[in-house]
Amino acid sequence: MQNLGVAITGSGSAVPATSLHNQILSEVVETSDEWIATRTGIRQRRLAVPSESLSDLATAASSQAIAASGIKPEDLDLILLATSTPDDLFGTACKVQAQLGATNAVAFDLTAACSGFVFGLVTAAQYIRTGVYKNVLLIGADILSRWVDWEDRRTCVLFGDGAGAVILQADKSDRLLGFALKSDGTQNHHLNLAYAGTSQELLPGVNITKGTYQPITMNGKEVYRFAVQKVPEIIDKALFQANLSVDQIDWLLLHQANQRIIDAVAQRLNIPEHKVISNLAQYGNTSAASIPLALDEAVRQGKIKPNDIVATSGFGAGLTWGAAIFQWGR
Ligand code: UT7
Repeated sequence: MQNLGVAITGSGSAVPATSLHNQILSEVVETSDEWIATRTGIRQRRLAVPSESLSDLATAASSQAIAASGIKPEDLDLILLATSTPDDLFGTACKVQAQLGATNAVAFDLTAACSGFVFGLVTAAQYIRTGVYKNVLLIGADILSRWVDWEDRRTCVLFGDGAGAVILQADKSDRLLGFALKSDGTQNHHLNLAYAGTSQELLPGVNITKGTYQPITMNGKEVYRFAVQKVPEIIDKALFQANLSVDQIDWLLLHQANQRIIDAVAQRLNIPEHKVISNLAQYGNTSAASIPLALDEAVRQGKIKPNDIVATSGFGAGLTWGAAIFQWGR
């Protein structure tokens, strides 16, 4: 039998050392620990200092994942870096490849904002299921502190920096049990980190634009409404594909955006609290990193064990959302 199944065999994570508590943040913008904690569940977040790059965080998380799965960097065939905040718009995955010494891997970035890890998981699985690659490193990493408007209390209190990584390997049994992905560009305007430029005349009659990306803007209420409606739906869809019922899930692992979203989704799906993974109190919303960061913590804490069934869902800018049901380990 050919190894055309997918197993997720190791994880790793890395966060910057600097942490910023809500209390300290209230010296930067008019907010309070009480407001942030009750509205979001967030208590603190990690912030990358100028000497910390996205590639450094991604490489540190990846080294752990590679070690945990018992392979060597040279064994990697593909590196996918899910990020919206690359060090370089041409891509940061190749830098990670070089830092790891993954000389045999092709590497590229994938952008799907806070859905990036789930979209990356499904993308990586396709290369394995078709028999093209055997060992894939998938990283979710973001440094949103670079792109937050630190004068906008509606957004700056929400985000943090970090990286998480997993190794996917070809296996006899397929442990990616079901998935579903969705996009709705008509709602794109609700969450943006958009380029804005001013027109410049290059030659008479030939204008170009010069500018840069602008800080994050978000319609929090709309994104909240979207998440609470769409996430249970897409998890149901992925479960249907996996031919599993909700009570067969061992762990619910959502993108860590807001504890109220996590609680509402768990409630709608009828998943008890003890099966819900949450670490956003310590890290805030780390975008593409949030799922693999929480996954890695739960694995290292001995919560998620081999053969446990995990239902995961990412959602965010695009708008994009997706769910994947997988069985941890080989
Ligand atoms: O990863 C991408 C996915 N993103 C998300 O999932 C985010 C989804 N949205 C949310 O999580 C919530 O909408 C927020 C946490 C962003 C906001 O919570 P909310 O309950 O929707 O609050 P709100 O925006 O309706 O604001 C309520 C009040 C407002 O004051 P008024 O107009 O009622 O006087 C805000 O000005 O809270 C005020 N406010 C704040 N007060 C203190 C907004 N931000 C803050 C703040 N500190 N940081």
